[in-house]
Amino acid sequence: MSGAKDWVARTGAPLRGTLAIPGDKSISHRAVMFAALADGVSTIDGFLEGEDTRATAAIFARLGVRIETPSPSRRIVHGVGIDGLQAPDGPLDCGNAGTGMRLLAGLLAAQRFDSVLVGDASLSKRPMRRVTVPLAKMGARIDTGDGGAPPLRIHGGQPLAGIDHTLEVASAQVKSALLLAGLYAAGETVVREPHPTRDYTERMLSAFGVDIDFSPGFARLRGGQRLRATDVAVPADFSSAAFFLVAASIVPGSELRLRQVGLNPRRTGLLQVLRMMGADIREENAALHGGEPVADLVVRHAPLRGIEVPEALVPDMIDEFPALFIAAACAEGATVVRGAAELRVKESDRLAVMAAGLRTLGLRVDETADGATVHPGPLGSGTIESHDDHRIAMAFAVAGQVASGAVRIRDVATVATSFPGFDTLARGAGFGLQDQTGGQGR
Ligand code: S3P
Repeated sequence: MSGAKDWVARTGAPLRGTLAIPGDKSISHRAVMFAALADGVSTIDGFLEGEDTRATAAIFARLGVRIETPSPSRRIVHGVGIDGLQAPDGPLDCGNAGTGMRLLAGLLAAQRFDSVLVGDASLSKRPMRRVTVPLAKMGARIDTGDGGAPPLRIHGGQPLAGIDHTLEVASAQVKSALLLAGLYAAGETVVREPHPTRDYTERMLSAFGVDIDFSPGFARLRGGQRLRATDVAVPADFSSAAFFLVAASIVPGSELRLRQVGLNPRRTGLLQVLRMMGADIREENAALHGGEPVADLVVRHAPLRGIEVPEALVPDMIDEFPALFIAAACAEGATVVRGAAELRVKESDRLAVMAAGLRTLGLRVDETADGATVHPGPLGSGTIESHDDHRIAMAFAVAGQVASGAVRIRDVATVATSFPGFDTLARGAGFGLQDQTGGQGR
């Protein structure tokens, strides 16, 4: 593995300035998909130029959709209509993206042609039966690899019928896969959730002219509808902003303004939790951006205290636990997380990997099946394994800003899946963060 990229993070300067955070990953994936299926030409502004979302765009190009990139973060998508996708000439590579693979499973299960979805090493370990089992109930035929993991071999030409399905785990990806299959199914498809999850699929299908009923935890649509092209404005990704919210909270003397960040309530659990911990985060210049609430987030250093994270907020901050664990490490008093077993099946087992990393830096972390208790303390130095998980890498880059020595983070290339340019932006704000290539022991 020589040539793999590491970072060395260490205390820098107080964090200062105004930052533009890249576009939302969840919305960018959906924007390309729905624009591809629409009748007419759609423009997407603020598209995330990350590897995950570019992989999804590349897949639609292979399915016969013309997608232009007139400038970075802009796409012009020439929709082919709901029945206009073409058979691909080989396996479709979703890269690191669970969202890409799970949503595409629902969409491709409804096509006339066969297809195969593959992913990188991390995605190839992630559970897919959560989508293939309910899709099979609609009439889909999808073979998984060993243990329900990718690749997904999707047999086209199957007539689908709508279902009324209650999800076992709160998952926007599974919900979305069923709704996409439901567009092609006979009758109605209803999805009910144990806890409401992000509703971008519902909101965006509605913006593309689909008649869909939805409320928190519920969605229903009729099959046989067409999508009408529309322009999409993608807000800045709260999950990317989260690392700077935590960093500025814990580094003395910091004050950052994060411009026009998406504040959909199904995404901002961390904002509530950080405020419960004592964080100083203000919202200014609130507006609506493409139908989504956005605001500047102004965050200043503040002493944090440990809390019991309310279980009801877990789905609204499911991607923010790596960042939260760093905030917890720097608080006064322990922080307890429960009801978060889903973290074990993200890009890595984020409970185990965060606990191991914090222990390397000298903390005590008690791990449970569905959570952990973080006992704060001074952070020392050490080498952290990112397990090729972008959010683990960024979380420990933040930890390094308050550590007593150097924190080396191994294999940070996957940061480009969700936040290309994180390191440059972070250094500009004051982070101590250096690239290292290769290294001993590889
Ligand atoms: C996502 C949903 C969440 C989240 C992921 C993006 C989406 O996954 O963790 O980063 O875009 O729908 P689950 O639906 O599996 O919880």
